[in-house]
Amino acid sequence: MKMENPGNLILVIFGASGDLTSRKLIPALFSLKTQKLLPEKYAVIGIGRSQSSDEEFRKKMKESIISFSEDKNPDVGQIENFTGSLSYLSMDELSAESYEKLKSILAETDIIYGTDANYIFYMATPPSMYESISLNLAKAGLAEESSGFRRFIIEKPFGYDLESGRKLNRNLHELIAEDQIYRIDHYLGKETVQNLLVMRFANGIFEPLWNRNYIHRVEITSAESIGVEERGGYYESSGALRDMVQNHLLQMAGLTAMEPPSSMESNAIRNEVLKVFQSLQPIREADVPKQVIRGQYTGSTIRGECISGYRYEKGVAPDSRTETFVAIKFFINNWRWGGVPFYIRTGKRMPTRVTEIVIHFKRTPHHLFQRENGLLTSNQMIIRIQPDEGILLKFDMKEPGSGFNVKNVSMDFHYKDLADVRVPSAYERLLYDVMLADSTLFSRDDEIETAWKFIEPIQKAWEKNHEIKIYGYPAGTWGPANSNDLIEGCGLTWRYPCRNLTDDGLYCEL
Ligand code: NDP
Ligand code: BG6
Repeated sequence: MKMENPGNLILVIFGASGDLTSRKLIPALFSLKTQKLLPEKYAVIGIGRSQSSDEEFRKKMKESIISFSEDKNPDVGQIENFTGSLSYLSMDELSAESYEKLKSILAETDIIYGTDANYIFYMATPPSMYESISLNLAKAGLAEESSGFRRFIIEKPFGYDLESGRKLNRNLHELIAEDQIYRIDHYLGKETVQNLLVMRFANGIFEPLWNRNYIHRVEITSAESIGVEERGGYYESSGALRDMVQNHLLQMAGLTAMEPPSSMESNAIRNEVLKVFQSLQPIREADVPKQVIRGQYTGSTIRGECISGYRYEKGVAPDSRTETFVAIKFFINNWRWGGVPFYIRTGKRMPTRVTEIVIHFKRTPHHLFQRENGLLTSNQMIIRIQPDEGILLKFDMKEPGSGFNVKNVSMDFHYKDLADVRVPSAYERLLYDVMLADSTLFSRDDEIETAWKFIEPIQKAWEKNHEIKIYGYPAGTWGPANSNDLIEGCGLTWRYPCRNLTDDGLYCEL
């Protein structure tokens, strides 16, 4: 991470009584504090609907830091020092009148802390509230950058479909400039996702192979072992396609497939990702059943524990057709990737939590060596985003002894082996970047809209055609079995990853 101190500022979090604030944002800010990466002068104002005093809020945030901080043994004195800079304001975030009060609190806080009238507003509320909050801030004169800077952090999802995504952008642009907006896709804050750029463009050995001539297919999996937990209400209106694919998975595909940027400047990178999104071959509504498989987890027993099906989760309709799993086959119509299938899948209640990108290289044109089991393998590069972050290269070697028996072996690199390197959390990195006005790792308006354009025919086909099946899959499995049918090629399946990068196999110990 850059080791620069950002300018003085006040961070205002809307939705501070919610899950995201306690689990991710406050622990990330505390971590920045311990690394001396917060501004010299700063204050954090949490805003929520529910009532709470400053003291109660600080106590709750202290507990969150203890529970969710990456440092498993954080120093209590340091935590209390940090939470001393937090305050809480209970207000109706949708009522314009409340913003006059907020404005005077900001002015007072600014004088007390000496924060140079610089404000960052973080929207951690339900997404339907982003436009009203921004409008109310603008009406109160809190969006203008006359005295200090004003930055707006918007959490995903950015809209519900193409039209609402466009409307959100349009309405925000009427109030604030694009360079004041930071749309968080926290996958871009993950160290291993950023490392994709370094791995591809800092090494001469991979780039010559990174195209349709050598790559047979690309596979991206983002699996979670948890279910929807307390977020059933939100998830019902979202589903895996909107929650994970429109943003996290497409961004990972974009970074895997993009052309080299002209520089590491934020717009240079985002332009290249946008070009990938613009080259996505649209999936016609009629092809959705062939190219997209959706699933929903059903009840099962995992390691002796009885797990409820999705339809029995809190806030979920008993006849819900919301997908908790989705797998898509698509193509990128450009010079580099023409004809190479990309397969992406994501699901809740899968056997383990793992996100990885698998590059399957083409086989040699002539097979000189026979394996005992008759199976031919191909080289694979596995880029592990989480956990056991690292890279694994699989290739064939001769087994010692007589004859030419071939064995598939691996070369692996694990981040954890870099003992002196700490991997910062995604939110830590992204919050720090907003403070430094570095928008490289944030999604731009045109990227979001182009991603929605790709997703929309799938949404429409599902809405219109109830004949398209949603397959049940028992909690703790890799999704509907027929998701393997998407993969072109005799006997080919998805990779079955394990928690440890070097293990794989459907039945491995998870
Ligand atoms: P929560 O439901 O836990 O919190 C919502 C917050 O908004 C609470 O502080 C709530 O106040 C406040 N709020 C104010 N008005 C309303 C209202 N009318 N209806 C509902 N809530 C209201 O949500 P999360 O913290 O989980 O998520 C916040 C945002 O971040 C969402 O957009 C979500 O999609 C996004 N996000 C969340 C992630 C996560 O891990 N939680 C990950 C990635 C994105 P109060 O509780 O006081 O009523
Ligand atoms: C969020 C989704 O954006 O990403 C959640 O809303 C999902 O449903 C989460 O659980 C996964 O993030 P991570 O960092 O745990 O892979």
